Amino acid sequence: MNVFHIVGARPNFMKVAPVMNALKTRKHVVQTLIHTGQHYDANMSDVFFEQLGIPAPDVNLAVGSGSHARQTAEIMTRFEPVLLDGKPDIVLVYGDVNSTVASALVCAKLGVRVGHVEAGLRSFDRTMPEEINRLLTDQLADLLFTPSEDGDVNLRKEGIPAERIFRVGNVMIDSLVKLLPAAQRQNHNGLPEGFAGRYADRYALVTLHRPANVDDGVILKCILQSLLEVSQDLSVVFPAHPRTRKRIADFGLHADQLQVLDPLPYLEFLGMQSRATVVITDSGGIQEETTYLGIPCLTVRENTERPVTVSLGTNVLVGRDPDKLRSELSRILAGEAKKGTIPPLWDGHAGERIAALLTKHP
Ligand code: UD1
Repeated sequence: MNVFHIVGARPNFMKVAPVMNALKTRKHVVQTLIHTGQHYDANMSDVFFEQLGIPAPDVNLAVGSGSHARQTAEIMTRFEPVLLDGKPDIVLVYGDVNSTVASALVCAKLGVRVGHVEAGLRSFDRTMPEEINRLLTDQLADLLFTPSEDGDVNLRKEGIPAERIFRVGNVMIDSLVKLLPAAQRQNHNGLPEGFAGRYADRYALVTLHRPANVDDGVILKCILQSLLEVSQDLSVVFPAHPRTRKRIADFGLHADQLQVLDPLPYLEFLGMQSRATVVITDSGGIQEETTYLGIPCLTVRENTERPVTVSLGTNVLVGRDPDKLRSELSRILAGEAKKGTIPPLWDGHAGERIAALLTKHP
């Protein structure tokens, strides 16, 4: 069986690694890894390949940044000849980024089977580019691998036949389970000189990059103001996405009291998460990782496509309400953080379940 994997952006390197690893042990499987080049900075891409033990991509489409239309179109144009040339039996696409929908669409038009890993997630908020990507990719996919029951329910409501839906658990958690011991040994490597001591104790770990939070100067200023308040109670360490850093500069905002760092590699970030007092984020994957780790997570969004992190996990949606952020943070600092449990099938074996299904449905 000839399998293509498509990745392009940071959150999906953690998802492809366990699936490729599990397929490596199967007979008669040939794998080709294609990087679209959506993320291209060394610390947004290369370092993840090294730490996760992913082989170097066989093909790099090197599309780089651009508007959504341009980036999506560029991926489609550059991927089509690769697909025609490689003639895979199935193409696996991951998550909800532009690389995911663009490659799924090329496959569907050429009649090549698509498997969507992390299918069925819905925020029901179509202003999010990722929601559009999720909806379309799921309509195009032949095999839909879901991380949790809500995914199955959403897909059934959208008319996807039950026999195409496979609840396999969470592949991102596979990578976490495998690498957490190494991450905890990491001991703040990768942090600038002098940071180790400061963050050995209590700190809030922050990530923000959603367009809705960072592309509007007034909203971003308001969030930074809330984080400044947080920094009066505990240190705030903020590895910033390049997009966020750029916006802070473009809008002439100041975040001097916050420790704004470059994006951290996977192991360093995971180590920081596992020791954080609280994580404040608008990321999708981090809501899941904190739930697995049992670390309190305050999500700066009004909705989530990962509702199990709220119903079962440690996640609380605070939206952009500074009062809610303040009150939830006080609860956490008072030792009254919400307790969570780990959702079913988030057990480190999702990649193996996908490999088993693929070899059964070649
Ligand atoms: C993308 C995904 C988002 C995911 C996020 C994780 C889409 C629509 N969005 O958002 O779902 O949570 O990745 O990081 O696919 N940039 C760099 N260097 C890089 C990559 C990006 O400087 O290596 C900057 C560029 O200015 C670029 C901007 O970040 O224009 C946005 O990058 P893009 O890939 O379009 O979307 P993300 O915001 O990263």
